[in-house]
Amino acid sequence: MTNKNTNSKESNTIQEILDLRGRPIKDLRISVIDACNFRCTYCMPNTKSYSFMTPDERLTADEIIRLAKIFTQLGVDKVRLTGGEPLLRKDLFQIISGLSSIKEIKDIALTTNAFYLKQQAKMLKDSGLTRITVSLDSLDPKTNTLMSGVTSELNRVIDGIRYAQELGFNPIKMNTVVKKGMNDQDIKDLVQFSLNNNIILRMIEYMDVGNQNDWKLESVIPSKVLVEQISKYAPLEVIEPNYHGEVATRYRFKESKGEIGFISSVTQAFCGSCNRGRISASGKFYKCLFSTEELDLRALLRANHSDQEITKKIVETWTQRNDNYSETRTEQTKKRKKIEMYEMGG
Ligand code: GTP
Ligand code: 5AD
Ligand code: SF4
Ligand code: SF4
Repeated sequence: MTNKNTNSKESNTIQEILDLRGRPIKDLRISVIDACNFRCTYCMPNTKSYSFMTPDERLTADEIIRLAKIFTQLGVDKVRLTGGEPLLRKDLFQIISGLSSIKEIKDIALTTNAFYLKQQAKMLKDSGLTRITVSLDSLDPKTNTLMSGVTSELNRVIDGIRYAQELGFNPIKMNTVVKKGMNDQDIKDLVQFSLNNNIILRMIEYMDVGNQNDWKLESVIPSKVLVEQISKYAPLEVIEPNYHGEVATRYRFKESKGEIGFISSVTQAFCGSCNRGRISASGKFYKCLFSTEELDLRALLRANHSDQEITKKIVETWTQRNDNYSETRTEQTKKRKKIEMYEMGG
């Protein structure tokens, strides 16, 4: 990683914390902005209207960096920046540079829809970002337009991916949410595209996040079915996870170079090893994608609480964590009031 501040003081001893199910916190996902220029049907459908946060309501770059530093003292060594669409955040360079000067953070990844990737890839590289994941659900312009909720500009997205690769972001991952009857016909093309372009494709089971997407279990295609279908034209073999708690189950292509992942939160929940915490753009800390409770970190920051006081609150929150929503999901639980994915980050 570049931009490491080698002059930073030695940190205190890291105090790893465990929740009620024995899970540490390792991966901090920070939503830097709730707004987005897309309207994906599964996240922010364009049939609804949205009121986004005002700039004042969002954490500042300095507040984000301060919180990240505090979390590293509790075991976090990986950060993913999400949104909304993070590339809409004007001071992203400052945020990433600040994060990359925290020596405990080994990996800074970003999830983007890639619309502005070509313009910003160089800035991302220079700031010290280590990895990029692009959300892309179909290479068919009609389906892409339907799923992203905006007129498809696929060439622009693909140019952004290629340019980021040229700058050294390799391998890029591509997230595809699979929705039955919507983009399941497009999977073969996506697989081919990922193989031709050295991209790690990840097929995600459609989830009941937020309150807007009218999720139905029948719209989910289980990963097992997808693996069988893909294996017919591109044989697959399961491979070891990269790290404990990896969300995607990895497979390699037996007949070509490349890998693909399946994220099966609906049919094969992975809560047992979930080490992810989330901070929304307005500074609320969530213990689970499906949480309804929050710790208001922004309020603590803006009331001039010390790092020690903020740490204490985080420890209290995490050590009481018992969340395992995906293991208990039913047609009934989907009706619970939830936080929107674009507010707390994916
Ligand atoms: P790597 O660091 O590259 O392994 O990626 P990641 O594990 O950070 O995965 P990523 O952020 O790309 O997640 C992909 C998708 O998986 C998200 O957009 C969500 O749809 C889903 N996902 C990620 N984390 C969780 C989680 O904790 N719970 C559930 N239910 N789904 C998750
Ligand atoms: N189901 C599964 N994944 C979702 N995402 C957003 N909404 C959903 C959903 N309902 C994920 C996608 C996208 C990322 C930003 O959030 O993976 O790439
Ligand atoms: Fe925007 Fe990402 Fe949500 Fe799509 S999934 S509307 S790109 S935040
Ligand atoms: Fe973690 Fe909640 Fe997702 Fe389970 S449902 S893996 S506890 S974020």
